[in-house]
Amino acid sequence: MKIGVLGTGAVGQTIATKLVELGHDVMLGSRTASNEKAAGWAKTAGSKGRAGTFEQTGAASDVVFNCTLGAGALEALHMAKEANLAGKVVVDVSNPLDSSKGMPPTLLVSNTDSLGEQIQRAFPKSKVVKTLNTMWCGIMVNPRMLGDSHVNFVSGNDAGAKTTVKTLLKSFGWRDEELVDLGDITAARGQESWLQLWLRIYGATKNGAFNIKIVAGKPA
Ligand SMILES: NC(=O)c1ccc[n+]([C@@H]2O[C@H](COP(=O)([O-])OP(=O)(O)OC[C@H]3O[C@@H](n4cnc5c(N)ncnc54)[C@H](OP(=O)(O)O)[C@@H]3O)[C@@H](O)[C@H]2O)c1
Repeated sequence: MKIGVLGTGAVGQTIATKLVELGHDVMLGSRTASNEKAAGWAKTAGSKGRAGTFEQTGAASDVVFNCTLGAGALEALHMAKEANLAGKVVVDVSNPLDSSKGMPPTLLVSNTDSLGEQIQRAFPKSKVVKTLNTMWCGIMVNPRMLGDSHVNFVSGNDAGAKTTVKTLLKSFGWRDEELVDLGDITAARGQESWLQLWLRIYGATKNGAFNIKIVAGKPA
């Protein structure tokens, strides 16, 4: 597939590298054509990896991963252009974190709304699927590193888009039963709110390599 990754940080580069390893044609996008991180990544990615602007990445791709800073995500997607993203699956990995008032960060949007919903509203012709935002990026593309079964949540309004994303996630190493479909994009409220607890667990354990496991019993 032709896959665009918006975001040159750890998440964007980790996902882009995995997608290249899996044989996809990948463009890593940033705000400027001269972004050093994107150019550096493209040099190591081989013939399947290219760097571009957000706009070029949106235009060149069938599926787009949003791996940008939460506070800049809508701006980044607008730079990718609504027309370029229309009809396409937008995989939203971002979190609406606000670090401007110190640590730990707070959420820019929560409770009755979410960044995933804001993106879906701003790009009504795109099919937004929220996933992978609840864990450290090393686990996203290498779920078997934890040595136990654990879960990754998926939400979005379009069933076909979720199927496309689940197929990609399974190619990353996720097992079918580990992909928990939470329903429509309003479930992004819960997925993003988990960050409040994720950050506290990380602060207490100093280890980001953990994830959620659902241990279910029989209802009484
Ligand atoms: N780090 C993790 O393990 C992890 C795990 C789960 C979810 N997440 C989420 O994944 C996203 C990416 O995280 P990250 O740590 O890889 O990188 P990041 O530093 O949060 O984001 C980097 C990207 O955001 C873009 N950006 C920054 N400010 C912008 C603005 N005002 N307008 C448009 N674009 C802007 C940057 O563009 P340029 O390339 O042009 O500089 C860059 O491509 C975040 O939303 C984060 O909360 C991270």
